[in-house]
Amino acid sequence: MRALLILLAFWGAGAAAQQAADAVAPEQGAFERSAPTAPVEAEDWMIVTAHPLASRAGARVLREGGSAADAMVAAQLVLGLVEPQSSGLGGGAFLVWYDARSGALTTLDGRETAPQGVSPTLFQQGGAPMGFFEAVVGGRSVGVPGTPMLLAEAHARWGRLDWADLFTEAQDHAANGFEVSPRMAASIAANADTLDRFPATRDYFLPGGRALTAGERLSNPDYAETLALFATEGPAPFYTGEIARKITRAVQSAPGNPGTLGLLDMILYSVKERPAVCAPYRGHGVCGMGPPSSGALAVGQTLGALAAYDLAALGPDAPDARRLIGDASRLAFADRGRYVADPDFVPVPTEGMLDPAYLAERGKLLDEGRALETVAPGRPEFDHALLWADGLSPERASTSHISIVDGYGNALSMTTTIENAFGSRLMAAGFLLNNELTDFSFASHEDGLPIANAPAPGKRPRSSMAPTIVMKDGAPRLVLGSPGGSRIIPYVANAIVGHLDWSMDVQEVASMPHAVNRFGTYDLEAGTRAEALAGPLRDLGYEVELRDLNSGLHIIAIGETLTGGADPRREGLAIGD
Ligand code: GLY
Repeated sequence: MRALLILLAFWGAGAAAQQAADAVAPEQGAFERSAPTAPVEAEDWMIVTAHPLASRAGARVLREGGSAADAMVAAQLVLGLVEPQSSGLGGGAFLVWYDARSGALTTLDGRETAPQGVSPTLFQQGGAPMGFFEAVVGGRSVGVPGTPMLLAEAHARWGRLDWADLFTEAQDHAANGFEVSPRMAASIAANADTLDRFPATRDYFLPGGRALTAGERLSNPDYAETLALFATEGPAPFYTGEIARKITRAVQSAPGNPGTLGLLDMILYSVKERPAVCAPYRGHGVCGMGPPSSGALAVGQTLGALAAYDLAALGPDAPDARRLIGDASRLAFADRGRYVADPDFVPVPTEGMLDPAYLAERGKLLDEGRALETVAPGRPEFDHALLWADGLSPERASTSHISIVDGYGNALSMTTTIENAFGSRLMAAGFLLNNELTDFSFASHEDGLPIANAPAPGKRPRSSMAPTIVMKDGAPRLVLGSPGGSRIIPYVANAIVGHLDWSMDVQEVASMPHAVNRFGTYDLEAGTRAEALAGPLRDLGYEVELRDLNSGLHIIAIGETLTGGADPRREGLAIGD
């Protein structure tokens, strides 16, 4: 048995520059770590998650003959403890599953859902949008968590080991303690002012008024108790029982900014199977999560608009390659802002948006040789007469991604979140509650037109999460995804271009310095060789910003062997055998 670990240096950058590049967005806090240099190789199975303890829990399950779904459950339960700022039982997730036996792709929507008590003006005061953190912190932003039911649903469909066997590591770490990681400590320090507002959160992350530091041992008896209940009773206590009552009490009694989430909302929750959304690119099918996520649509639209351009000949350092990719992304974001929302509430022109003729037309707009001066939504074929106004959804980077291939040939890609770092900052039953409702548009109408992604009772907020499986000849070739708010979309699209057009291995892809464009400004990753693109991109007509860019790409390529890559900007680990 070989357990191969990875960690060290950046694409073309020295160690000092590397450490500078590892600083992350302010809301996450800065921390330093070394970075992986080469992909992990394995023959039978592989798992990549954002924390070594989560990867090891999943690896143990895979080694014992568990499926990718089993390993995901074990890993997610640990992530909720050791990377609590990013995902957990109080959040939601989207899962893409490739089934080796049937060859089918299934996508599961475990997205949080708005309570019955919300209205389209949920995030407005006096008719104007609230400030982002005013909306986030407290009960107003909390949707019904989907993750507990999603874990149970994945296990019921595809699990091979006993449910309770998947809890061993999480229960051990919760009861006996784990080491606070540098990234978790940095995130606590960066968010101490808001974590301090609620007693349960303060007592856990700021014991005695002092922020936890890296290397300290931390246990979570409340989480251990929740896990014991989950292991024996499944998800029912979260939706109809004791844990549901703890969640709704925390939301409704949040001082200053309570929410309406109640027991009826919890009871009404369900995980939804949705059709996978696939887009062709360079002879592959890029498949992922459809609405309410904009992930697969926007990744597919970005790639579709690039189909006619020879990015391989240009290479990653060519400003013109970055112009093409950046403007293809902007066009996709324009459509996303107008058309994408929960399909159970608004008709979404999914087929029209990925129609090859439509994307070829959008792609022709890139032929000008300079940055597009105007980027407007297109008119994809739409069997519904109503037009929407563009939404206003301020999204921030948090979230976590899990990629797994098991010994049976199944593949799983799951992006999991509580939205902002530490979500709503409210804690119940040992875990943080999400602030996913702030992924809705804060504005409800514009110029008399409704906004597709406005809040409504029972609706799911639009997401950017893009758990992806790239298929070729009916088999999975690449399993990937990333955190990063709405930058998830360009992170994932660039990673696919890096692998398919620029022949990068999965670790080069995960380490590639970022250059991303969503709404017009070209964001280049500070402290990396991407900075060299600043001058040429300005000459092409872009406004350029150098920033810390906080991805967490976790990728597995499936070929003769399995190769895994973990993003050097986080603490992730690929393990395979
Ligand atoms: N809250 C992150 C996302 O769903 O895109």
